[in-house]
Amino acid sequence: MKTIIYLAVSANGLISNNRNVPDWLSQEYGQGFMVISQRTQAVIMGKTTYNVLAPDYLPIKEGSLVVLTHHTKAEPAQSNVLFTEDSPEKIIEQLAAKGHTEAVIIGGTQTVSAFIKAGLVNEIILVVEPVLFGNGLPLLKGIEAEYQLSLIDVNKLNNNTVQLHYSIKNN
Ligand SMILES: NC(=O)c1ccc[n+]([C@@H]2O[C@H](COP(=O)([O-])OP(=O)(O)OC[C@H]3O[C@@H](n4cnc5c(N)ncnc54)[C@H](OP(=O)(O)O)[C@@H]3O)[C@@H](O)[C@H]2O)c1
Repeated sequence: MKTIIYLAVSANGLISNNRNVPDWLSQEYGQGFMVISQRTQAVIMGKTTYNVLAPDYLPIKEGSLVVLTHHTKAEPAQSNVLFTEDSPEKIIEQLAAKGHTEAVIIGGTQTVSAFIKAGLVNEIILVVEPVLFGNGLPLLKGIEAEYQLSLIDVNKLNNNTVQLHYSIKNN
């Protein structure tokens, strides 16, 4: 099972600004988000990110949309949404048992941090947008460890946006 993080970041590494308005995201980030979600058919996100996307912008109608939340009895926006408070290990186990070979984690900070901390992320794709945020949300929170990355690929997506694709060396 391969687990991949896909995120847009400012040039100084933040995943959201304080206004919390996604007007800094390129069309190319959005296209990549759809492509990787469609390819994996297994998309993991936190409830805050889900609340931004649901009901109209959830990336897949079939497959598995896993949403971390402590409110597991809430009414899902569509039938493939699974609200869960299971551990990252269990979530990955369950997706593998369903036959998935890849899963993509699309945010936000809490969810990405939980999977990185559990040592369950194989690759990270960062779409670096041409903006600096004075304040905003970091990519990771509450993690002491350092992680070494190996660059798989760099792509210039448009005149201003670069995509960095790394593998993560988990200890
Ligand atoms: N730049 C990007 O590519 C990108 C992508 C996605 C999101 N974002 C941004 O990221 C922000 C959201 O990030 P975030 O860190 O605040 O939220 P998040 O990870 O999307 O969701 C956090 C919520 O998920 C639930 N949760 C987290 N860990 C859990 C666990 N171990 N067990 C059960 N439930 C758990 C909790 O929901 P309950 O309160 O329901 O229990 C928690 O409040 C937004 O501003 C969004 O715009 C950016």
